[in-house]
Amino acid sequence: MDADVTLRVNGTGHQLAVDTRTTVLDLLREHLDLTGAKKGCDHGQCGACTVLVDGRRVNACLLLAVACDGAEVTTIEGLDHPLQDLFVAHDAFQCGYCTPGQICSAVGMLDEPGTDQLDGDAIRENMSGNLCRCGAYPNIVTAIAEAHG
Ligand code: FES
Ligand code: FES
Repeated sequence: MDADVTLRVNGTGHQLAVDTRTTVLDLLREHLDLTGAKKGCDHGQCGACTVLVDGRRVNACLLLAVACDGAEVTTIEGLDHPLQDLFVAHDAFQCGYCTPGQICSAVGMLDEPGTDQLDGDAIRENMSGNLCRCGAYPNIVTAIAEAHG
């Protein structure tokens, strides 16, 4: 069964008829050709699909598009944040597969209540939902720490 969904993605309005089982991740990748958010596990376990919905970080593979009617979605393609340059400056990636999710997740995390005091352990804890199979964690934490500072 299809349903109409209206949402804004990276500042552009869209109205689509999608199968009610369509996730936000599939809507972005398959319907809007925004392939920055990656499908790693498709089960909410890796964070590669992280995007911002109304400013909050979410696993797009777990969220149905019909539940986001009227929402503002920001993907890595629409993000303009100092953390992007800091990831480059600190070499915070290798293959890059997890990187869009890492950056979207960190941007959302930095806006969450209780994150005004963040040391390395707190960053690792707050980012524990975003896995990196290349093991770029030390440089990811360094980049986020500098963005926070
Ligand atoms: Fe969504 Fe892994 S693809 S958490
Ligand atoms: Fe390769 Fe993180 S940079 S998975």
